[in-house]
Amino acid sequence: MIYREVARRFSPDFIVCEASEEDLRKIGDWLYPNEPEEMLDEDPNATIFVARRGEEVIGLASLVRYSQDSHLYVGYWIFGLMVKRRYRGMGLGEALHRARIDRARRERASEILGEVREDNYRAIRLLRKLGFEMKEIPELEEILEKKRARFGARMLIMSKSLT
Ligand SMILES: CC(C)(COP(=O)(O)OP(=O)(O)OC[C@H]1O[C@@H](n2cnc3c(N)ncnc32)[C@H](O)[C@@H]1OP(=O)(O)O)[C@@H](O)C(=O)NCCC(=O)NCCS
Repeated sequence: MIYREVARRFSPDFIVCEASEEDLRKIGDWLYPNEPEEMLDEDPNATIFVARRGEEVIGLASLVRYSQDSHLYVGYWIFGLMVKRRYRGMGLGEALHRARIDRARRERASEILGEVREDNYRAIRLLRKLGFEMKEIPELEEILEKKRARFGARMLIMSKSLT
């Protein structure tokens, strides 16, 4: 906690905005270093936000809208929050989250949901700081159990009311 306060005092200038095509290319290089030219898939239901320091992409986060009939994950969901290791603890994760929450609110979403590994205490703490609470969605149980078998950890659902 104290180290994060200190880190924030010396944090670099960064902006959070929607990813441009160039940003998506840079994210591809970051996430798939062995696959040149790999870009992040462009999903028409998703908005990708990035934290940029100058020309460098130092964090990303996505907001996905699922319609009732397309998916078991219905509504506004947050996925893929990641901050480059050397920039962690400086407030970027929180800023990226807030950008997604603001966007969902502007689009009049009543709720925003996220999935988090049960052992990811940093992410859980961040979600709680922003007002997210644990939520059970029985329809997702089967998928969550399959993910537990695949990832070796239970995924928890957390949600925040926007009304
Ligand atoms: C989780 C993650 C995105 C946090 O980003 P970050 O920029 O380091 O976080 P911030 O500096 O914005 O911290 C905001 C809050 O997150 C929580 N947090 C962040 N780092 C933490 C740590 N090391 N220990 C405990 N809580 C932590 C705290 O609540 C913190 O608020 P506080 O400083 O007032 O206590 C980052 O650690 C990361 O990229 N991890 C790997 C990918 C990942 O786990 N993504 C989440 C998937 S759901």
